[in-house]
Amino acid sequence: MPILFDEERCVWALQGSVSTYGLGVDVEGCLRHLYHGASLPRIEDLPAIDPPSPPQTFESLGGPEVRYEYPAWGGMFYGEPCLKATFSDGVRDAQLVYEGHRVSDGAAPELAVDLRDTHYPLRVSLHYRLFEEQDIVERYAVLKNEGEDPIMLEDVLTAAWYVPQGCGYLTHLAGRFAGETQVYREGISPGKKVLESRRGVTSHHANPWFALDRGNATEDTGEVWFGALAWSGNWKIAVDHDAHGHVQVSGGINDFDFSWRLDGGGEFTTPTFVGGHTREGFGGASRNLHRYVLDHLLPSKGPLPVLYNSWEATYFDINEEEQGKMAEKAASLGVELFVVDDGWFGERHDDRRGLGDWRVNRETFSNGLKPFIEKVRSLGMDFGLWVEPEMVNPDSDLYREHPDWIYRFPTRPNTESRNQLVLNLAKVEVRNHLFGVLSGLLSEHDISFIKWDMNRPFSEPGWPQAPRDRQREVWVRHVWGVYELLERLHKRHPRVAFETCSGGGGRVDLGMFRFADQAWVSDNTDPYDRLFIQEGFSIAYPARTMMCWVADPGKWVRGREAPITYRFHSSMMGSLGIGVNLTEWSEKEMGEAREMVEKYKEVRDVIQEGDQYRLLSPRAGDTTAVQYVSRDRSRSLLFVLRSSHRFADPVPTIYLRGLKPDCIYRTTAEVGKVSGAALMRRGTKVSLDGELSSTMVEITEE
Ligand code: GLA
Repeated sequence: MPILFDEERCVWALQGSVSTYGLGVDVEGCLRHLYHGASLPRIEDLPAIDPPSPPQTFESLGGPEVRYEYPAWGGMFYGEPCLKATFSDGVRDAQLVYEGHRVSDGAAPELAVDLRDTHYPLRVSLHYRLFEEQDIVERYAVLKNEGEDPIMLEDVLTAAWYVPQGCGYLTHLAGRFAGETQVYREGISPGKKVLESRRGVTSHHANPWFALDRGNATEDTGEVWFGALAWSGNWKIAVDHDAHGHVQVSGGINDFDFSWRLDGGGEFTTPTFVGGHTREGFGGASRNLHRYVLDHLLPSKGPLPVLYNSWEATYFDINEEEQGKMAEKAASLGVELFVVDDGWFGERHDDRRGLGDWRVNRETFSNGLKPFIEKVRSLGMDFGLWVEPEMVNPDSDLYREHPDWIYRFPTRPNTESRNQLVLNLAKVEVRNHLFGVLSGLLSEHDISFIKWDMNRPFSEPGWPQAPRDRQREVWVRHVWGVYELLERLHKRHPRVAFETCSGGGGRVDLGMFRFADQAWVSDNTDPYDRLFIQEGFSIAYPARTMMCWVADPGKWVRGREAPITYRFHSSMMGSLGIGVNLTEWSEKEMGEAREMVEKYKEVRDVIQEGDQYRLLSPRAGDTTAVQYVSRDRSRSLLFVLRSSHRFADPVPTIYLRGLKPDCIYRTTAEVGKVSGAALMRRGTKVSLDGELSSTMVEITEE
């Protein structure tokens, strides 16, 4: 059993394959963090718990150095709490002490430690699920009101993580629309750095992932502590750093404008927050997370189909005949899934109307969708559809019938963004309506794939019909509503796969990846810009989840001219899609594309399910190199893309990784055979000529 318990000291050790997570109960009954780092196989070796310091001095403990596993605001604690509660008598101080624990076995063994308030009937159970092979600990908390009077929760984060003193270098992902998941790294000084979203959705601006190191970690080496939150609404990761170099990272549902009335007998379960430790740098951290997502989180396994999406080809100007021609062309390229994007429903001829009316537009598809889907199916492809269920245009039948179904403050105008408003998914009638129309659509049609979009952040998040002390629950109830809908749809229509999208990559997180196999990463389809967005994305999420379309220049967001091979190579580094107007492609382009699609299908299992190594970063120079290695290390792929060709410099030598040193490989970059050791130690050379040039090298064990 990889979860050890030392009864005498009341400490636990969670043993991963090469790491240990240790926690224990102090003399006052408080649950404290002991250790997170490289393996300590003997539980006796876990460090002793520092005794609590006398509370009468200014030097007393009270911040990150105390290392409470679940710090509650109360007593002399001044750091970032995971819990802030007000009890029915007005007392605003929580004191959690150890009550008992349970260990359960299973695919992922789990430790649950029960804490209880010393006076009030509030129980907090902290859950730790261990994914041994990936050295990942998944944490969540369950709060239960075991009394009768309500308890107001004003802050319920999921977990606090700790790193050794002095690990003050923070890496995180931030960005913007069309420029998501950019990588930032900084040495942090005393104070608090908060990564968060307050937009109702995960957001383009920050992604709920973090890493900390001592300042010496590289892509390949050094200790890295990292974590990612499974929450798709307002989230917060607070990195609290004191003047002695202690660091505490607390995260979960954002406490901003949040409160929750926990009625007697009620329970509140937080989203999960996964964390891990590696000695193999940022690359090792990514690979561990990737494997966790691939093996334990995503709803399906196996290679994802090559997809065609008509958005950049036709925008709202959809007509059946043209889509039909596009489908024929797509099928001739080897595409496996044909997706009709926005514009197929209601009076949706532009973004000003129709959103909310999920019935087929008879001007666009005169005989409904069925004949068109049959045509797509007869061409040998599956069919997929775009929806944006959480939204409504004021110019829609849905809004005219139910103007009270949106979030609003009665005395404020409803701010429209992209001419739309957000439906109140806290309301059960709204969720039931959406389930009814979406499930109906899926029952009546042969649909295999849904792209679930969400094209604006929240504003005026009021729920006037709810009791005053429940109104701030909308932030959480909305996300639960989305999850509930996805879960119900998934149960009723298990064959249907989902893609998460929010104006590009505005809702990419581990919460959505429980339901969606893939994400639309960005509305920016420029093949060079994408290298930066994809690199950041790959820090946290595996290539299988990263949907990348080959696009034409000058579309939706912009996009520069680039050779078709470069555009394909840039997109083949994730799940491949095609988003161009195929009726405009020449026979030559079609021929090249056909070959690339065929090649992709041959190698996609390595890309989508293998381990990824970021060999040369686009941030570091004009050459990007990314390698993928099959789990059994017998096959590998290397993508090399060059943005410019300054001073006629050759492509730098590329040192491969993850191969078996003693095995002999064939590579398409060299004549003859070569050992894994040579490819990794003396490296390999590729030659690329000119701007935006690229190649894909195949490496196969003999
Ligand atoms: C968002 C998505 C796009 C497309 C449009 C449709 O911007 O990111 O891919 O689906 O909506 O309106």
